[in-house]
Amino acid sequence: MESFVFNTTKSLINQPGAIAQLADICKQHGVRKPIIVTDQGIVACGLLEKLEAVFHREDLPYACFCDIVADPPERVIYEALDLARSQGVDGVIGFGGGSSLDSAKLIALMLASGEKLEDIYGIEQAKGPRLPLMLIPTTAGTGSEATAVAIVTTGETSKMGVVTPLLLPDVAILDAELTLGLPAHITAATGIDAMVHAIEAYTSAHKKNRYSDILAKEALDLLANNILKVCQNGQDLEARQAMLLGAFLAGQAFANSPVAAVHALAYPLGGHFHIPHGLSNSLVLPHVMRFNNSHCHELYAELAPIIMGDDYIAHEDSKAVSTELIKHIELLIGNLKLCTHLRDLDIQEKDLPVLAKDAMLQTRLLQNNPRNVSEQDALNIYKAAW
Ligand SMILES: NC(=O)c1ccc[n+]([C@@H]2O[C@H](COP(=O)([O-])OP(=O)(O)OC[C@H]3O[C@@H](n4cnc5c(N)ncnc54)[C@H](O)[C@@H]3O)[C@@H](O)[C@H]2O)c1
Ligand SMILES: [Fe+2]
Repeated sequence: MESFVFNTTKSLINQPGAIAQLADICKQHGVRKPIIVTDQGIVACGLLEKLEAVFHREDLPYACFCDIVADPPERVIYEALDLARSQGVDGVIGFGGGSSLDSAKLIALMLASGEKLEDIYGIEQAKGPRLPLMLIPTTAGTGSEATAVAIVTTGETSKMGVVTPLLLPDVAILDAELTLGLPAHITAATGIDAMVHAIEAYTSAHKKNRYSDILAKEALDLLANNILKVCQNGQDLEARQAMLLGAFLAGQAFANSPVAAVHALAYPLGGHFHIPHGLSNSLVLPHVMRFNNSHCHELYAELAPIIMGDDYIAHEDSKAVSTELIKHIELLIGNLKLCTHLRDLDIQEKDLPVLAKDAMLQTRLLQNNPRNVSEQDALNIYKAAW
């Protein structure tokens, strides 16, 4: 039996309407004035108002930073930090997609510890402490509420991660009422991101373990069975709740058995062409799986009945099964109406070598891939996705 250490979120509330409990949860954690960290999209669709109503009802003062942007740059994190300091807050609530949650995690840490971003990039560089932290995802995707990671945009095209268990929140609230209005294209892309977390955790080269395997399989069962439903009927509360739980479980899985080449090749697409994280993953997923197939078809075949459901046909040859699984995933992405070719996103064929070169910089992720990826391999994968 393999040895492993498993870190995760301390407390999870999985219940539609659960944000009504937030003021009480703050009080239980000794928080007298939290800051809500979110983005303008959440304000525009009326979700912030819902959260504010909870605080008004319970008479709890709060501050708000609503200017987080997708793939948050360092500047935005520091702006939020300045506001939080000037407001004398003593707790942090991340509310929104992965960008808002990642920002909230860093703000909770840096407010209490006084550390600077440049000193905490990398693995376990931060010393803490951090303020009480509650995370409320409004997309079912990144699983940030279950991971010890926060991703920051550091230059024009580059991203860096802060990785420390200090970033795991005290409480995660999964409340599907918040996701009912999520547009279908964001639902689809973020849902595929969550599926990729589970698939890559299950095939990860180093830290894959029994516990992460259970989580990845359970996550895929929830995600694969509900992703089409929520894209076709966004108001299906039960399916929305299942997607949130699936994304959380996938987050727990990859927080302990890390993601690999799909994410390594997705990041340069976000960096150079501002393609959202979930869509970037979706664009390269079938092509990376096809590349990996020679090295992990047995593992893919184990996932096939879970992902394929009624379409699964048992076969003794695991390579035949995994090849069918890859075709099934390609079909699913098409049915979700996600873009499937890089060339349809204003990316020229001459851009591909730069993407391949940049993907090679993601050594933290590539080392987890079941098959070694050279720069030429990365280029071939981008060509296939083009
Ligand atoms: N911490 C981690 O473990 C981890 C893992 C993967 C990705 N990430 C990071 O997460 C970010 C991507 O997060 P994301 O994919 O959730 O997207 P996002 O947070 O960048 O953007 C989501 C968009 O959807 C809108 N939105 C969110 N919820 C909504 C709702 N319920 N109704 C209507 N609109 C809504 C937001 O306003 C925003 O415009 C990237 O920065 C990525 O690097 C972090
Ligand atoms: Fe991801």
